[in-house]
Amino acid sequence: MMQRTKTLIAMTSQERSLQPVSLAKDWTPGTWRAREGLQMPTYPDACALASTLAELGRMPPLVTSWEILALKQQIAEAQEGRRFLLQGGDCAESFADCESTIISNRLKVLLQMSLVLVHGMRLPVLRVGRFAGQYAKPRSADTETVDGVTLPTYRGDFINAPEFTEAARIPDPRRMIRGHARSAMTMNFVRSLIDGGFADLHHPEYWDLGWVGRSPLAGEYQRMVGAIGDAVRFMETLSGESVHNLKRVEFYTSHEALLLPYEEALTREVPRQWGWFNMSTHYPWIGMRTAALDGAHVEYLRGVRNPIAVKIGPSVTPERLIPLIDALNPGDEPGRLTLIHRMGATHIAKALPPLLEAVRREGRRVLWVSDPMHGNTESTSNGYKTRRFDNIRAEVDQAFDLHAAAGTHLGGVHLELTGEDVTECLGGARELSEIDLERAYRTCVDPRLNYEQSLEIAMLIVRKHAQMKAPARA
Ligand code: PEP
Ligand code: CO
Repeated sequence: MMQRTKTLIAMTSQERSLQPVSLAKDWTPGTWRAREGLQMPTYPDACALASTLAELGRMPPLVTSWEILALKQQIAEAQEGRRFLLQGGDCAESFADCESTIISNRLKVLLQMSLVLVHGMRLPVLRVGRFAGQYAKPRSADTETVDGVTLPTYRGDFINAPEFTEAARIPDPRRMIRGHARSAMTMNFVRSLIDGGFADLHHPEYWDLGWVGRSPLAGEYQRMVGAIGDAVRFMETLSGESVHNLKRVEFYTSHEALLLPYEEALTREVPRQWGWFNMSTHYPWIGMRTAALDGAHVEYLRGVRNPIAVKIGPSVTPERLIPLIDALNPGDEPGRLTLIHRMGATHIAKALPPLLEAVRREGRRVLWVSDPMHGNTESTSNGYKTRRFDNIRAEVDQAFDLHAAAGTHLGGVHLELTGEDVTECLGGARELSEIDLERAYRTCVDPRLNYEQSLEIAMLIVRKHAQMKAPARA
């Protein structure tokens, strides 16, 4: 009897998710259209746009509502310090890079980094790719002028093409259909690799990239892989059976929800759930340039049930931040809201503490994540847009310290990276210099950490985390 009463009272998480707890008021997937929508193209052919959106609206979604809700639960755990978020991938995906090796190398480097973090931090790592839809970019100018010719800027492959010709730069709605298809191909490949055992902890050698053996970091990485292998074998010997849940890892996707017509077309209701889900990705975020409280992007994002994130730059004040949190997470729902701060190594010490203090004082539940990339972009004397590894590292280090000082908790990192051997960011263990940038600078937008620099940052995060936990010496 006792048991029965208990069962009746305790709602399962599935039952709870059927209860409309925080249905956004006066919201539909299209209410953003009445607000100012920055950073979006004007399509010259309204008929082509309408028919494309109708077609997209009938196409299958890329993710499911139960994956979205499972991720939200894990983000709630990260908010409590029980998981660490690793979010990473290209600044912008390109249609041309939807290739098997590029996708699997990116997955490998993220898996290797997560291995380093799990091993060093002794915490489960929540893996989120910046891919399968990261095709739209905010730009600082609407037009670009070369040799006296002015054309619209390149805004990502969802919208136009990077070549400097008039035809390439005209926004073409059919690109959304191509982007959706490539996102689906990317997800399909990632899901199959993971289901097929690619992420099996028994075989971390599957994730090896060419650098192992040549890199200054190789010894440390190999020692760690060896230690993990020993631990897995030890556990299996003790339990007398193979540890199956080490064979599969979970992987989620994210992208900037910038091109709202695309996001709207993939925003759906599903049977046996209340509310609306953005089913183009698990974890949409809005960028710093489109986070105005009364803007179209905040209006769109407030109504979907996904876990969502907002980028916060040095110009955000507590007076702006708290109303934004109110709009995006009025019910203070666990797992709902992530704030990704991207201040820059020289601004973070001044800009971040007032925000941490305000959120703590108001008792709001957020996941704090550091993006040490976007506040540290600079131009070199030979004309490359780059980032210095030392600044990236300095921003992450300070983020840990500032959170500790404020009594808040840094729950993850957001990085721009690739599994390729590019030379786009300066420094790192191989000490890439300005001259090296000429060798393999491939990004169309922001400079990415290459695989070696990515692994190095993961190792440095672990070191910093260990220092923070070590008791202070007398
Ligand atoms: C990005 O993440 O690529 C980006 C443009 O970031 P932010 O909005 O922080 O500038
Ligand atoms: Co970027």
